[in-house]
Amino acid sequence: MSFEVAADAYDRYMGRFSRPLAAEFLAWAGAGDGPPVLDVGCGPGALTTTLVDALGAQHVAAVDPSESFVSAVVLRLPGVDARHASAERLPFDDGTFGAAYAQLVVHFMTDPVAGLAEMRRVVRPGGTVAACVWNFGVGSPIGPFWDAAHEIDPHAPVETGRPGTREGELARFAADAGLADVVGGTVEVDIPMATFEEWWEPFTFRVGPAGDYVASLSPDTRERLRDACRKRLPDAPFDVTARAWAVRATA
Ligand SMILES: C[S@@+](CC[C@H](N)C(=O)[O-])C[C@H]1O[C@@H](n2cnc3c(N)ncnc32)[C@H](O)[C@@H]1O
Repeated sequence: MSFEVAADAYDRYMGRFSRPLAAEFLAWAGAGDGPPVLDVGCGPGALTTTLVDALGAQHVAAVDPSESFVSAVVLRLPGVDARHASAERLPFDDGTFGAAYAQLVVHFMTDPVAGLAEMRRVVRPGGTVAACVWNFGVGSPIGPFWDAAHEIDPHAPVETGRPGTREGELARFAADAGLADVVGGTVEVDIPMATFEEWWEPFTFRVGPAGDYVASLSPDTRERLRDACRKRLPDAPFDVTARAWAVRATA
């Protein structure tokens, strides 16, 4: 999976959606039992930045398995305790945090229940564990891309099967991870696109599964995919409405 990429490429591909999502997700999830707090699967720091703005860097920790993203957080957000680690094995003692958040990460975890159980372990009893994942049914900001990819290539990868992307799944994982007071919900953001090119170009930056797929195509097939995407989107300027499933629960 291509998350060993430059932070700027990620920002232009997914950060444009995940930065506004972070504010809405945190407002929905709540502050938990207060600082310090943990951002799991932080990427180059969309949600981490929102946590730092609210609490100060010294009260925020962040982990990600991608070395390039952890390096970006260290550079961008001095004072944050940024570490190279996966959700399934968090390098923190029991009950360290008042809250742990995972934005757009559960569907990439090798074992989502184990990852959420680890988040529960490192949060104090009574604190909050919260996660969100794009709704790949109706509302992923890259949904038109995958629809167009399947139109031209029946063998294109399928992201709709990723864990946590269907209604109710995140809540089930949270309950299976031993969390209490599980509440499911949705978080939604609108992101303006001035041109079709603004939407399309970051798919060519080799970020994530969509970027991997575009990089695997011949120039001719890539051009057909680009045309198929353009036909599926409104005339520019247009807004992308991005919807995520969310869960919050008590450790
Ligand atoms: C779509 S990005 C989300 C990044 C960031 N949270 C945001 O909202 O922009 C998915 C992130 O999950 C990370 N990731 C993948 N598998 C993971 C795992 N098992 N545990 C923690 N993070 C993981 C990737 O390295 C990547 O940074």
